[in-house]
Amino acid sequence: MTKLKAAVLISGRGSNMGALARATMDPDFPAEIVLVLSNKPHVEGLALAQEHGIDIRVIDHKEFDDRETHEDAVTEALKEAGAELVCLAGYMRILGEGFVNSWRGRLINIHPSLLPSFRGIKTHERALERGIRIHGCSVHFVTAELDAGPIIAQTAVPVVPGDTAETLSDRILEAEHELYPHALELIASKRVRWSGDSGVADMDVTQNDVAIFPKAD
Ligand code: GRF
Repeated sequence: MTKLKAAVLISGRGSNMGALARATMDPDFPAEIVLVLSNKPHVEGLALAQEHGIDIRVIDHKEFDDRETHEDAVTEALKEAGAELVCLAGYMRILGEGFVNSWRGRLINIHPSLLPSFRGIKTHERALERGIRIHGCSVHFVTAELDAGPIIAQTAVPVVPGDTAETLSDRILEAEHELYPHALELIASKRVRWSGDSGVADMDVTQNDVAIFPKAD
């Protein structure tokens, strides 16, 4: 089986990268991780990637004069690694239009809310302030507009009485760790794609492919 070569961009803990790495260890999984790249040195996620035997690179944005030259270096590293798809997983840098457009349809992100609600940061705090009962997480294609690209897969997660931002975040993170490998599998098996022309992804998925958490079984 020819596997899709994916790179994962991180800035910290890397628990979603870890979930992707675990999924790709299954010989039948249609994607492999060829590189984990961080814009910050010494972060937890880099050690975790090494434990999984994955190549790592640090390209520290502080060593570059501007966003564009940093992103050019990132692109070069991704190309050297042979990456065909880039998965953002807690990558805490706004990406420039040039980078986003050059990876259009091949750049995905996981976000801790049911998009298009709660784009941006502090999603759990804002969800609790608004008193919503159902929160969740989304994997989407990345466009130049923050957290606004076509949605690939989502998981709904209940907000329960007494939740704090931390308890809610923990519950959603657990769902993220199932959702991201699921979304990667959908793309690698060519069941979801985005040509870049419309605001929604092209899907060849059944109802059973829709992620629900906690699972009903
Ligand atoms: C996750 O909540 C993800 O949805 C968001 O940033 C967080 C990263 O966590 N984009 P981790 O580094 O994967 O543990």
